[in-house]
Order: sequence, then C-alpha cells, then structure tokens
Amino acid sequence: MWTPGTWMWRAAVCCVLLETLAHTARGLNMCMSGSATSCEECLLIHPSCAWCAQEDFGRGRTLTSRCDFSQNLQKRGCAARFIEYPTSSISILQNRPLSSKGSGSTQYDVVQIMPQKISLSLRPGDQTWFGLQVRQVEDYPVDLYYLMDLSLSMKDDLDTIRNLGTKLAQEMGKLTSNFRLGFGSFVDKNMSPFSYTAPKYQENPCNGYKLFPNCVPTFGFRHILSLTDKVDRFNEEVQKQMVSRNRDAPEGGFDAILQAAVCKDEIGWRKEAYHLLVFATDDVPHLALDGRLGGLVQPHDGMCHLNDKNEYSASTKMDYPSLALLGEKLAENNIFLIFAVTKRLYVIYKNFTALIPGTTVEILDQDSKNVIQLIITAYNNIRSKVELTVWDHPEDISLSFTATCQDGKPLPGLRKCADLKIGDTVSFNVSVEARSCPPRGTDQSFTIKPVGFKDRLEVAVDYQCDCGCSQIAQTNSSICSSIGTYNCGTCQCEPGYLGARCECQEGEASSMHLSACREAEGKQICSGRGECSCNQCLCYESEFGKIYGSFCECDDFSCARHKGILCSGHGECHCGECKCHAGYIGDNCNCSTETSSCISDDGQMCSGRGNCVCGRCQCTEPGAFGDTCEKCPTCPDACGTKRECIECRLFNSGRLADNQTCQRLCKDEIITMETLKTDDPGAVLCLYKTDNDCVMKFTYSEHVSGLSILAALKEPECGGGPDALMVLLAVVGSILLVGVVLLAVWKLVITIHDRREFARFQSARSRARYEMASNPLYKQPVSTHFVETDFNMYGKSYNGGVH
Ligand SMILES: *[C@@H]1O[C@H](CO)[C@@H](O)[C@H](O)[C@H]1NC(C)=O
Ligand SMILES: *[C@@H]1O[C@H](CO)[C@@H](O)[C@H](O)[C@H]1NC(C)=O
Ligand SMILES: *[C@@H]1O[C@H](CO)[C@@H](O)[C@H](O)[C@H]1NC(C)=O
Ligand SMILES: *[C@@H]1O[C@H](CO)[C@@H](O)[C@H](O)[C@H]1NC(C)=O
Ligand SMILES: *[C@@H]1O[C@H](CO)[C@@H](O)[C@H](O)[C@H]1NC(C)=O
Repeated sequence: MWTPGTWMWRAAVCCVLLETLAHTARGLNMCMSGSATSCEECLLIHPSCAWCAQEDFGRGRTLTSRCDFSQNLQKRGCAARFIEYPTSSISILQNRPLSSKGSGSTQYDVVQIMPQKISLSLRPGDQTWFGLQVRQVEDYPVDLYYLMDLSLSMKDDLDTIRNLGTKLAQEMGKLTSNFRLGFGSFVDKNMSPFSYTAPKYQENPCNGYKLFPNCVPTFGFRHILSLTDKVDRFNEEVQKQMVSRNRDAPEGGFDAILQAAVCKDEIGWRKEAYHLLVFATDDVPHLALDGRLGGLVQPHDGMCHLNDKNEYSASTKMDYPSLALLGEKLAENNIFLIFAVTKRLYVIYKNFTALIPGTTVEILDQDSKNVIQLIITAYNNIRSKVELTVWDHPEDISLSFTATCQDGKPLPGLRKCADLKIGDTVSFNVSVEARSCPPRGTDQSFTIKPVGFKDRLEVAVDYQCDCGCSQIAQTNSSICSSIGTYNCGTCQCEPGYLGARCECQEGEASSMHLSACREAEGKQICSGRGECSCNQCLCYESEFGKIYGSFCECDDFSCARHKGILCSGHGECHCGECKCHAGYIGDNCNCSTETSSCISDDGQMCSGRGNCVCGRCQCTEPGAFGDTCEKCPTCPDACGTKRECIECRLFNSGRLADNQTCQRLCKDEIITMETLKTDDPGAVLCLYKTDNDCVMKFTYSEHVSGLSILAALKEPECGGGPDALMVLLAVVGSILLVGVVLLAVWKLVITIHDRREFARFQSARSRARYEMASNPLYKQPVSTHFVETDFNMYGKSYNGGVH
C-alpha cells in the first residue's frame, strides 16, 4: 500500500544508497579496496573510514573487511564500542573574556584575544575549525621610544624636539591614560669609511667645519632615557644632546633599531603595552653587507650589546642587521616601527615597510615640526588594524582563515581587518586540517598572534593517528595460537607463521606465499577484495553481491549495464561477463532476438522497407519511418497501398472491402473535400482510374504527430474535360493522316508525269515509222528541259527553274 510514509522512507534509502555509491569504486568502497591490514592503515585511507576491532567480526559465513564506513560496520554487526572511528576535535583550555578597558588597577589582566589556549586533536584529512575574537581595547597602555638621528643635518630638528616630551604626553594623554616615553640616538659606526677617523676628528668630528665647529664624537647607538612616565625627564635629556658628524650620507640607524628592539630591560618595554618605536631620520640607512666596506664580515647576531654606558658596544665588530632580522626581532618584541622621514626618502622607506611587517612610514617636516601629529596619526593607523600572524606553523597542518570584520560579512581567506575603531571586536574562523601523521610521539604547537599585540592564542596539537585498541594489544595471545600479537581484532604472527589466527606454519609453500594469493606479480593480494590465509584467498562479503574466485577476482555485480541495469535485466552476471537469458544477445543482453515487434500491420517484416535489428526496425528505404517503417509518403508504392484504403473506407470497394482488414490496416485519417488542394509540399498527389472509367484523386501526407492524413475528393471525376488518352490518340491519328495524304499526292503526281512521258514516247515511235530516213537514236546535242514542280500542297509559292 502506498502511503506518504513509505515514499519518504524510500527516498531516504535512495539517498543513502547514492551516497554510498558515490564513495565506491568498482563496486567496493575505498575503505575496503584500500586493503588495510591494520587499524592504523585503515584510518589513514580516508577520514570517513572506521575499523572494527571486535574479535569475532566477520568470521561467520563469509569474511568481511574490518575497514569500512562506520555505519556499514554497524550494519554488518560490529558493536559500537569496538568501532575505532576517531574524529578531529577541539577543546578550549583557557577562555577569559575580552576586556573592555585597558588601563586601571587590573591592567595585567587586559585580554584582547579570546580564547587564549586551545588544544586540537586532529585526524589527518578531517577538517575542523575554531573561532577567535580580537578586540582593540580602549585606553591601552602605550610605550613610545623616540630614536633620533643625531647627525649634523638633524641639528634644527633637535632644536624643535627639545620640548617634544611635554606636548606629546599631552596629545597621547587624550588616547591613553598610561603613557611612557623614552629616548635614544644614533649616528653611525665610528670607523672608516662611515666616519671621520683621523686623530684630529676623534674628539670633535666637526673640527675645522666652519658652519658648525663643535660636535660630539661619532657613536653607533646610545640609549639615553629608559621609558618613563616623567615626561620632564625626556625634555631634560633631549636638551643635553648635541649633534655629531659622520662621513658618508647613509646613517647607521638599523643598528639602533635592532638594539632598541632587543634590549628589553634597558629600554624598559612593558609586557602589557603597545610598543611604538619612532625612528626619525633625514637620510637613507646602511644595510646588511655595507659593513664590509669597513672590513666587518661578522653578520649581526640579533643580540643586545649595550655596555655600562648604555652604548652599542658591537658597533665596530658586527655588520649592519638585515631587513629580515629586523622584521623578526620587531615582531618578536611586538614593536610597531614608525619611520618618520623627510619627504625625499618617503619612497625608499615605503619600500622597507613592505619588507618589514608591522612598520609604517610618515613624512617628517624638514625641522620635525609635525612630529606630534605624525605620531598620533601613526598610532591611530596602527590601532585601526588587526592582523593575525602564525608563529611556529607546523608544516603538515594547513590553516585557513576567514575574517569577520566590523560589518559582519565573512571574508574568506583574509586574516586582517582594517578601518576599525578602538573598542571594535573582530572575529576569525580558523579551519585546521592535518595532512599526515607525524612520527609517533611528536606533539606540535603553534601560536596565533595579532601583529603588535602581546596577546596570543596558544594552540597545542595532538594527532588521532593511533587506534585505542592498539593500546591493549596482547603478545603471544591465545587467540593467535599463542604465536602472534592480537591487536585490534587481527593477529600479527611471529615470522614463520601465517593465517588469520597464525594457524599455518610456513613450509615448502613459503616461497609461494605471496604469489599464491596474487593473480599475477604486481597485483594486489586477493585482488584487494579478500584476505590471504594459509595461501588461500578468503573473499570479503560485499553489499553489492558475491565476490569469488581463487584470487577474489570474480564477482556477480560488475558486468556491463544498460541504462543502469545490470545485463539489461535480461541476463546473469558471471565474473564480469553477462550470460544472457534465452531470447537476448549482446554484451549487455539488451538485444532481443524476438522479431514479432518488427512485423507491420500488413504482415511484412518492417513493411518490406527495412531490417529487424534487436527487435526494432531499421528502415532502409529512403524516406521510410515509423516503428515498422510503415510510413513512407515518398516511397514509389505509396499511392498503391493508400488507394486500397480510399477504396474500402470511402466506397466500400476494392480488395479490402467487406473485410475487417480495412479497419485494421487503414487507420489513417481521411478528409474528403470538393476540390483537392495540392499545394502542400509534404503531400504526395495520387490518382487512379476507377472501374467506371472515372478518375479518383487524393493526397497523402505524414504529420509530425505520427498521423497520416489522406485528403480525397468526395467523388471520382467522371467525363468532365478531355480524356488524356483520347487527346493523345487524336494527335497521333492526325499526324499519321497528314503523312498518308502527302504520300498519296506524291504518288499521284509521279503517276501523271509518267503517263505523259509514255504517251509522248508512243507518239514519237509511231512517227518514226514514217521517217525511216532519220535515225531515231539521234539526239540533238543541245536539249531543253522544262520541269514543273509543286512542293507545297497549299500553294503558297511556285518554284520552277531552267537548267
Ligand atoms: C620601490 O619599489 C618599487 C616597486 O617595488 C620600485 O619600482 C622602486 O624603484 C623602489 N623605489 C626605491 C627608491 O627603491
Ligand atoms: C567556520 O568555517 C567552517 C568551514 O571552513 C564552517 O563549516 C563553519 O560553519 C564556520 N563557522 C562559523 C561560526 O562561521
Ligand atoms: C612469546 O613467545 C616467545 C616464543 O614463543 C617468547 O620468546 C617470548 O618471550 C614470549 N613473550 C611473552 C611476553 O610471553
Ligand atoms: C545496447 O547497448 C549498447 C551499448 O550500451 C548500445 O550501443 C545499443 O544501442 C543498445 N541497443 C539497444 C537496442 O538498446
Ligand atoms: C480479408 O482480405 C484478406 C486480404 O485480401 C484475406 O487474406 C482474408 O482472408 C479476408 N478475410 C475475410 C474474412 O474475408
């Protein structure tokens, strides 16, 4: 009985079946065809494969694979507790809520990222995801270290910033209630060719320089004021500074940046604050390898080298740092670098920002007048962005980010939000997938950190590559005849023993062992569809049918199909070949040997216009169509066959009259009309003579609908109009008559002429009797003929001539 319920149930079964089919290849699913021999191997095939560790699983009637989809294993009788089917999972270990305000008594607990610690348990290939929120907390503490170029050209700048501390503290006070300021300066390495090294310049490099005769010796980097909230100290220290002088145009600023970044304790960077490093200069920096000009071949080691006078002591020992080293150290210490450079240098430093993450560049006026505005702009710029970085990213883990910024729209592939207001929260969706299993026992971890934040998310990773059942493996187990290890339902036999229960001992057959279960060298054991036990294949049971053969190479479900039906439903599948039922032939048994369907209504095979192939007519006569080639308006005999229908249907006469066959054979629609329209191009005009010498006309056409239409005259046409034969006879007769008359006239003319000549001859002979003296044979040499001819009977003209 049909009910909506059964219908829905069927639809569900159908979908499950489709899904299973989608996972299958050549009748078996990939978990089974992968021929996994252990639980671990099975799990690696595909994240949807599961392993059944139940001891007696599949040892009954037929052997079945322990590796399959989890739901299939359950269907085949594996108890759920024995199914090993790990999936990726995530557990959140620390999830303190985001703070709303940065400064205050609890500033050490300011949280800008949530969660803070998670642990991932990843099964290779099984993707999982976690969410992550980041907030630019309002009123967050700020540390600002002002690193100034003190080469001679910066003299006017130095004058401008003498009171920078007070003004900057005022402006920054509007953005944060917790602001500290520090100061350092640099010139260049005090060695040739970067500086003047002649003895007279040692104490005063400006010696003899008219415009500005007094300055301090050249130095690499000097840390002057550690970060402090006492801004007056900043002003004091800056006022004490004096410029120096170096020789070449580029300065040694990158040495200074590196020291400022890594000398955390000396500079006094706080853990819980934004770290801004303002780098003010009016010239290009020296880069790594420039040191070779001065004979420095040792690359920078990235360490802090401040001596007890707070000066960079390795200045003349090590080369300038590379951009990569700078970038790494700045990121490590969460430092935002702001290049405050003169307009001329903007492009060069802009190019550096592309190479060093977390840096910005702003244009400094010639005399540093705009430095406060510049710092405020850069700070706002930095705080309007959140960009995630991944630290210690393990190679075999793929991460993909989707950012959801302030407008709530997910942006796949992005790990960055810009144009944020302070206090905005942005979220990220991070998808994680392990690609492979690392060597046993290695646990990985990595860190996700927004650029410049102290906050971080620590991610610990472990891998679901092992099966739980492997933990309780038994050596010398009685299940494995005491000579093998029982592990996850299977026996791993000691060398020299074989079989599912280690019940066979390797003997003479040992050299044969592999080939005994393989159809040929290089093929899978038991065609990948069974287990080799004591040199014999035990084939798996399949949900699609039976697998058999000495190498499990045969089955009864992978034969040719026609329209999705195995052997077209007209045969049995035997080891890949259809054995067709009687009456069917062909690879897929879709060809019927039955010909009755090819016989047309009139009893002929395909109406005599084609051949019967696989129970269907293939019409050979041009223009013939229809199931039995019965339709053919253009065939030569079309008029003949349809004439009988006209006769029997309209006049009840002819061969088919008084007979049921008329109804049976003449199914065409017949339309009668007074005059026949013959202008239809698809119609054939037929006419025939009836018994009483009348002419019947009809047209025959086939329509797309499959209907053949006969349009016929109501009555045959009798007597009306000249008979074509009569006309023909008359024409032929009159031509003959004219010929005969012409012949007769010609004969008459010849006869009269002959008679006349004869009469003349007679009279001449009789005259000759009286004139014997004259020679009757004598003829005068000149004679005159007068011929009269008459060619035209009707006497138009009269031809004559003299010769
Ligand atoms: C900056 O980089 C651009 C493109 O990378 C390059 O065309 C340009 O020459 C660079 N400018 C300087 C001053 O190095
Ligand atoms: C995160 O992304 C995964 C796919 O990458 C998706 O399945 C999941 O629903 C997403 N989560 C949220 C909260 O958008
Ligand atoms: C298992 O049996 C082998 C020999 O059959 C023996 O050498 C080994 O010590 C046994 N192992 C255990 C754990 O009993
Ligand atoms: C039988 O199957 C073959 C192969 O699919 C196909 O080419 C042929 O047309 C089929 N014949 C009939 C009569 O359906
Ligand atoms: C009808 O006509 C067909 C063909 O001429 C003939 O074979 C058949 O015997 C006739 N049947 C009857 C009942 O007259």
